This record gives sequence, structure tokens and C-alpha cells, in this order.
Amino acid sequence: ETIRVIVDNDMQNEKAYSQAVDILNNGEVVAFPTETVYGLGAVATNDQAVKKIFAAKGRPSDNPLIVHIGTKEEVPYYIEEIPEKAKECMDVFWPGPLTLVMKAKPEILAPSVTAGLSTVGIRMPDHEVALRLLRKLKKPVAAPSANRSGKPSPTKATHVEEDLEGLIPLILDGGTTGIGLESTVLDMTVNPPVILRPGGVTKEMLEQVIGKVIQPTNEQQKNESTPKAPGMKYTHYAPEAPVYLIEKEKELIEKAIQKLKEEGQRVALLAPSDYSDVQADYFFPFGHKGNQEEMGANLYDALRACDKTNATIILATTTSANGVGAAIMNRLEKAAGGKWISIDK
Ligand code: TXA
Ligand code: MG
Repeated sequence: ETIRVIVDNDMQNEKAYSQAVDILNNGEVVAFPTETVYGLGAVATNDQAVKKIFAAKGRPSDNPLIVHIGTKEEVPYYIEEIPEKAKECMDVFWPGPLTLVMKAKPEILAPSVTAGLSTVGIRMPDHEVALRLLRKLKKPVAAPSANRSGKPSPTKATHVEEDLEGLIPLILDGGTTGIGLESTVLDMTVNPPVILRPGGVTKEMLEQVIGKVIQPTNEQQKNESTPKAPGMKYTHYAPEAPVYLIEKEKELIEKAIQKLKEEGQRVALLAPSDYSDVQADYFFPFGHKGNQEEMGANLYDALRACDKTNATIILATTTSANGVGAAIMNRLEKAAGGKWISIDK
């Protein structure tokens, strides 16, 4: 049985945190909110515990986990050498949605955390609940997103319940996460650093602080023979019905939907709220046109909502790949598996 405890910022929650800390210290897993998405945590130095994360998620064991810490001072315990640019990133972006991949100290973290790599991704989350939990536990916490592997990441505690009910003992419910997309993963073992996964800390923001940063296009990432971030090679973020991308142009969308309906399809449309008058069978607004922060925050909830309909096809509108748009387009292209709707105008 899975217990969900609601935690907010007042002190009455002390019991919930103690319970979470006890469960973690006993080698079990706990789901908790971060500013990006909910994570499923285990003590990162306990291999038996970390293996339970993989089991609950159904996650391939060759996909390494991110280590979460409560203070910047802990970094040297786990990292062999901290590049100067990594220090600058920590000063500016931590706590925050930036994971830094660096060379791990051997034999400190559980082998399952790094999945056999010599590097480890580490971040300090910017969320009251996550930070309080980490600081009370005083241990590093390995945590992937708290969804079943392949599903959209959870941005609400109820999403975690949908996926992991009965498979984990405790969910700390801290409400809806703010950013809604997973952290930026930045490889600091190369120079210039490479963005392995785009997220809330954008290329533009990083370059202000550390100069040149490489952000491979989705196309380039797909063509790499050995993906640098192992997780990026798997199908991801996918609802049940197939997702197709479509350009954000009302006439085109209306035409496509009409054609699909004629073919007997039931269409769910994921688009900015400004498109509510388009005649789809289901409409899931994900933010106002041009407001990418809002779109990012709502994307996974909208993808999950599609699963609660009997839609046979999902159309999702695209956005510019600048700023947070890079992360939104990265997730959308994965959800769609590269499929596009095009119609002669
Ligand atoms: O926002 C986030 O990052 C959330 C919250 C819970 O912190 N966590 C998260 O973890 O998204 P996960 O496991 O779903 O995604 C981790 C990504 C994967 O694509 C993985 O392959 C990559 O980071 N990664 C982890 N360690 C790595 C390493 N040492 N080298 C390269 N990529 C790594
Ligand atoms: Mg994930």
C-alpha cells in the first residue's frame, strides 16, 4: 500500500519528514517533489535500495540516476575533480534545475546509480520539500523521475499514484511542481560543456556564465551511435495513443482534424489555450501562446490527460526551439517519436 502525505511549509509536517527519513534509512524508496518533476528517491550509497527504484519504475538498468544533494558543500564527497566552470554553474544556478555530470569518486556511490559509468550527474533541487528532506536525511539521494519508465514524468503527486500505487511505500505530496520539465543535464567532462538534455536552465543562460556551450539538435542526438545520456535513447513521455506534431497554424490544424475525423479518428489536440475554438474531440490547453514557461509546466499533465480519453490520435502543436522551447520541443519530439502531420495548404 502506498501512503500519500500532504506536506507544505508549516511545522506540523515534521512527522511526515521523519517518516520519509526512516523509510529511506531502512533502504526503501520515497517519492518527493522537486521544482522540476517528482522524483523517486533512495539513499545513493545503498545499492540494494537503489535497485528498488529500477524495479518500481521498470527502468532499464543501464540508465544512470541523478544524485540529489541538500548543500553545495557535499559535492567534493562524490566528485573526483570539480571543473572551474562547474563551480561557476553551482554558484549561479544551484539550487535549481541543472544537473552537472562530472567524474565520480570511485566506490562511494552505489554502482547502480552510475550504471557502470565513471561519471555521475549531481544536482541541488530548488524545492522546500526536497531540500528539507535531504537536509534532515544528511545523505545523498539518487532519484529519477517518479513515473513508470516510458510515461510522462509526474508533475503532481496524483501522477505518481497513477503509476506507482502499491509499488512504493510513501509519496510526499508537495502540490504541483513549478517547472514541469526535467532538469538540464550538462556534461562538464568535456570542453566546451555539452547539453545532454535541455531543461529549465537554458543554453542562453549557461553561456552568460561559462561561455560556449554545445546543444546538439534532436536530429544530431538521434544519430549518435552511443548516446551520451543513456536515458535519451529510450521512448519517453508517451501517452497510449500516437502523438503527431503539427505546426501552430490554426487553418492547418482545422484542416488536419477534419481529415482525420473523416477517416474515423477521435482527435485530441494539445495546443495553446488560444486554440480552444478548434473543433477537436478533446482539447488540452497547455499554456498561452508564446508563454513557454507555462507550456513547459503543463505539458506532461496534458499528455497524461490524453490517456483518460478514448482519443485514437493526439496532435501537439510545436513551438520555437529558443530558450525553454528547446526542452519543450525535445520532449514533444520524443513523445511523437518524430512523427509529423503535414497537409498541403
Ligand atoms: O529534474 C530532474 O532531473 C528529475 C528530478 C527528479 O530531479 N530527475 C530526472 O531523472 O529526470 P531521470 O533519471 O528521469 O533522468 C536522468 C537523465 C537520464 O537521461 C540519464 O541518462 C542522464 O540524466 N544521466 C544521469 N547520469 C548520467 C551520467 N553520468 N552521464 C550521462 N547522463 C546521465
Ligand atoms: Mg525520467
